[in-house]
Amino acid sequence: EKIYIGVDLGGTAIKVGICSEEGQLLHTYEGPTEKEKGPDTVVGNIEKYVRLVVEQSPFEWDQVAGVGAGVAGFTNVKEGIIILAPNVGLKDLHIREILEGRLGKPVKIDNDANVAALGEAWGGAGKGVENCVCYTLGTGVGGGIIINGKIYQGFSGMAGELGHVSVVPDLEAIQCGCGKMGCLETVSSATGIIKMAKDAVARGERTSLAQVENIMAKDVFDAAKLGDEAAIRIVNRAAFYLGKSMAATAVILNPELFIIGGGVSYAGDILFDEIRSVFAKLTPEPVQKGLRIVPATLGNDAGTVGAAGLFL
Ligand code: BGC
Ligand code: NA
Ligand code: ZN
Repeated sequence: EKIYIGVDLGGTAIKVGICSEEGQLLHTYEGPTEKEKGPDTVVGNIEKYVRLVVEQSPFEWDQVAGVGAGVAGFTNVKEGIIILAPNVGLKDLHIREILEGRLGKPVKIDNDANVAALGEAWGGAGKGVENCVCYTLGTGVGGGIIINGKIYQGFSGMAGELGHVSVVPDLEAIQCGCGKMGCLETVSSATGIIKMAKDAVARGERTSLAQVENIMAKDVFDAAKLGDEAAIRIVNRAAFYLGKSMAATAVILNPELFIIGGGVSYAGDILFDEIRSVFAKLTPEPVQKGLRIVPATLGNDAGTVGAAGLFL
């Protein structure tokens, strides 16, 4: 019996999972990325967790038929190179070759959000939908474009970097991890939301967030749900730029479905209501017709399942 391993390489954690040939998640392991210790440690951790998840399972190393990895960064899928992953501290890394050498198994890599989109399209919110676009809102903002049931890769496998569409007007724009100004990621990621909250507190705005010691995105949503005006403004700003860029994506691609996942999406209605309303305001009626905006359903597992799915 063959098994496949999926790796979700993020800025904070590396999640690994064992999948059956039918794409069923059988066993998981999660450990810290430790990006602050540098690329060698990160690569070493991937190898360590992949070996550990197999050791802790009833399976044998010999049964591993392939390792798929979703990487949180600009990735040349065809050549297996991480070009730039600021949130993971990696750059110009021949990750496929390195992992194949260390693991002695065939390795496939893709972008983390592409892989999550695949997972959702197969077994999650996008089941049975041929044309959909997935946004992941976490440390960064990721994107995955599914056209006719397949990930759209573009020229070098970097299509769907939807977090780096520049949407914030010049006067309000700040620099993104990619080096450019005003990217969607600077306002609609957890990182962006936390920054807006800290700035509001630093400016001395009247907000309950001033009492929170280490503000997380969830604190901002919780405060907004309780009517905190500064928090509501921040949530609406994150939703506004996401809704606005979704309107652009919609006229370009005419998708049937937008799937929104990642930690931030757990905020629920307070976020989705605003996204839907901005999107409805900015998108031409004919393109809106039949189009749905829904939360992802695979949650934490989309990344690992989708990564193993690179082999299936
Ligand atoms: C990266 C993407 C990634 C996203 C989510 C962004 O900063 O550029 O490649 O998909 O974060 O992890
Ligand atoms: Na992508
Ligand atoms: Zn950017």
